[in-house]
Amino acid sequence: MTAKLKKVYIKSYGCQMNVYDGQKMADLLKPHGYRITDTYDDADVSILNTCHIREKAEHKVFSDLGRLNTVKKDRKNQEDNNDMIIAVGGCVGQAEGEEITRQAPYVDMVFGPQSYHRLPEMLAQIEQKVKGKRRKIVDTQFPAISKFDFLPAANETPASAFLVVQEGCDKFCHFCVVPYTRGSEYSRSAKTILEEAKHLISLGAKEITLLGQNVNGYHGEGPDGSEWSLGRLIYALAELDGIKRIRYTTSHPLDMHDELYNAHRDVPMLMPFLHLPVQSGSDLILNAMNRKHTAADYLKIIEKLCIACADIKFSSDFIVGYPGETNKDHKDTLELIKNVGYVQSYSFKYSPRPGTPASILQTQVAEDIKSERLTELQDLINAQQIAFNQSMVGQTMEVLFEREGKIPGQVVGKTAYMQSVTLNGDSSLFGNLLSVRISNGYGNSLSGERI
Ligand code: 5AD
Ligand code: SF4
Repeated sequence: MTAKLKKVYIKSYGCQMNVYDGQKMADLLKPHGYRITDTYDDADVSILNTCHIREKAEHKVFSDLGRLNTVKKDRKNQEDNNDMIIAVGGCVGQAEGEEITRQAPYVDMVFGPQSYHRLPEMLAQIEQKVKGKRRKIVDTQFPAISKFDFLPAANETPASAFLVVQEGCDKFCHFCVVPYTRGSEYSRSAKTILEEAKHLISLGAKEITLLGQNVNGYHGEGPDGSEWSLGRLIYALAELDGIKRIRYTTSHPLDMHDELYNAHRDVPMLMPFLHLPVQSGSDLILNAMNRKHTAADYLKIIEKLCIACADIKFSSDFIVGYPGETNKDHKDTLELIKNVGYVQSYSFKYSPRPGTPASILQTQVAEDIKSERLTELQDLINAQQIAFNQSMVGQTMEVLFEREGKIPGQVVGKTAYMQSVTLNGDSSLFGNLLSVRISNGYGNSLSGERI
């Protein structure tokens, strides 16, 4: 008789790095008799792979935990008593540790982004009940050995794959929890990255997005023993047979470097689209945030990128209502947005995070002012995005198709600029880079016809 496969539900919140970690958790558990399920209703194990970046993200975790607890309690009343193990991983796990099991005693396991490679072992320990009782595990250590050495290779991939090359952050922007939850900067060796890239391509990946909290600060060991920059790594990746597109995210303006500008000039697979967060357009606020550059420095970098690659476009992250932000500071941000002409962006109200320097400032901005500024900023960003999308109408774009659309009979792909394009077609188009004539440009997407 074969052992029954246990079902595990993994929900990842937040950034692409978390999505990658969630996939790796699944890859780690599959050889240990776990099958992935997309609902917690029948799961034996539920893992919330959490995000701590803003208060809202953290609240979502606790409300989801409440729902999981209801299922767990219901199961206890059923005959087969198929108890569910509830685990909190990711950045909330790292930041809150044991506090989670105090607030939510039904949580069996808490772990952070640097200890999830031990997941099979932790689950095995939990399943060995002591005197009929399950023990709790809280593991938020930053181990001396890199977890990357323990992560298994993927056995499937979408056409557009993520590949973590760097993790952690030493920049300590005054609003941000990442340096505390993900730890200090670590770069994987170029050899392991190139091997993983080859493997992903052999599984069908056409586009690879290099991930890191400070991805352009990458400084890993090259095969020749010298230190490689991200630019150098991109040149090497472009040599791999079958790779069609390369992207990297998220970058910090201070880490732009010559080899990277040159890669934008020389490497046709490197997409002409860069997410380069600036956060604010006011020098006073940039200084208060500890960003260590001015608005003019940032605009200079944008200019250098435009010289290297004439058709490059940009997106950014913005925080409105940082402590001490005046109306004038806010106007400076709007001015910078007009200057750069972003084709897409993410914007947030400042959210005070425990343990960060900005959270204890006395100059917090009122919630209604934050809301007003966010609306004004998003109106501008949206207007720029729609204008850009509409400017595509009539043009022929290369689109990489990767998933089904919401409407049956439609598929969705991405342009070089990360715009979603819908087209009539079926799954046989997945993994294909096709020429599409754009017929409509909307707020968030385009539609077109194959030529
Ligand atoms: N409040 C609001 N937004 C934040 N971000 C990071 N920390 C905070 C915070 N405390 C935003 C930044 C960052 C993005 C990932 O999240 O814009 O670039
Ligand atoms: Fe956070 Fe700043 Fe590091 Fe980005 S660079 S992860 S915003 S501390």
